[in-house]
Amino acid sequence: MITVGNTVLITGGSSGIGLALEKRFLAFNNKVIITGRDKAKLEQIKNEFPEITIFAGDLSDENSLVLYVERQHSNLNILINNAAVQYNFNFIDEPNSNHKIDYEISTNSTAPVKLTSLLLPLLLKNKNSAVINVSNGLFIAPKKSASVYCATKSAIHSFSKTLRYQLEEKGIKAFELIPALVETPMTAGRGKLKIAPDELVDEFFKNFILIMLRFILVKLNY
Ligand SMILES: NC(=O)c1ccc[n+]([C@@H]2O[C@H](COP(=O)([O-])OP(=O)(O)OC[C@H]3O[C@@H](n4cnc5c(N)ncnc54)[C@H](OP(=O)(O)O)[C@@H]3O)[C@@H](O)[C@H]2O)c1
Repeated sequence: MITVGNTVLITGGSSGIGLALEKRFLAFNNKVIITGRDKAKLEQIKNEFPEITIFAGDLSDENSLVLYVERQHSNLNILINNAAVQYNFNFIDEPNSNHKIDYEISTNSTAPVKLTSLLLPLLLKNKNSAVINVSNGLFIAPKKSASVYCATKSAIHSFSKTLRYQLEEKGIKAFELIPALVETPMTAGRGKLKIAPDELVDEFFKNFILIMLRFILVKLNY
């Protein structure tokens, strides 16, 4: 079954949406590797779910993560580009925000694009591969206080589409997950009518199963 027996890498799997995805993929008997910067947080999750594999590091150092996956988890077939940060600031009040701008663009856009590119050889080699990019509806209706964040999600939206076109013939499915407002540490203390991470994952899984199944049937000429 397409939802069982995969090797799944979830960037930012230690919190919020990534953590909910991690639990669901584990529940379906997949091998799951999660990443994050905070090693203690990852170890806490490992205590709760001993079968999980954890990798601590900043995404800007994508080469270390790629090397680790190539050496230890060469059967990787699902990459979930989920990790992101969101800074709320105003260019007028904070004219010298280059450090924030660089970090937000690097984490949210550059790192997932590079990671995808570097892991594609593995994904191409393995069966039933998929790349799942987590974007945000804010690329359509940007939020005033999160200009850079919204721009990085526009980039991920566009990247996901072109990736889908490029991989169409290669047997790898490219998904874009566009969550509504979800109750996570990223949105703590702001926003209304938030959904729970598990509700988002329920919806995602319904579509993930259908699309992967349809894709496999088309490949088999059914
Ligand atoms: N929450 C929402 O309403 C919402 C809506 C639409 C889209 N999204 C998107 O959903 C994804 C997950 O968001 P979330 O709300 O679940 O956020 P979250 O709870 O803040 O989780 C973010 C995760 O990314 C990791 N992370 C952040 N920066 C990193 C870096 N530079 N290197 C490595 N790991 C890093 C964090 O772990 P460490 O802090 O330990 O590094 C954490 O595991 C993001 O792409 C976000 O843009 C969220």
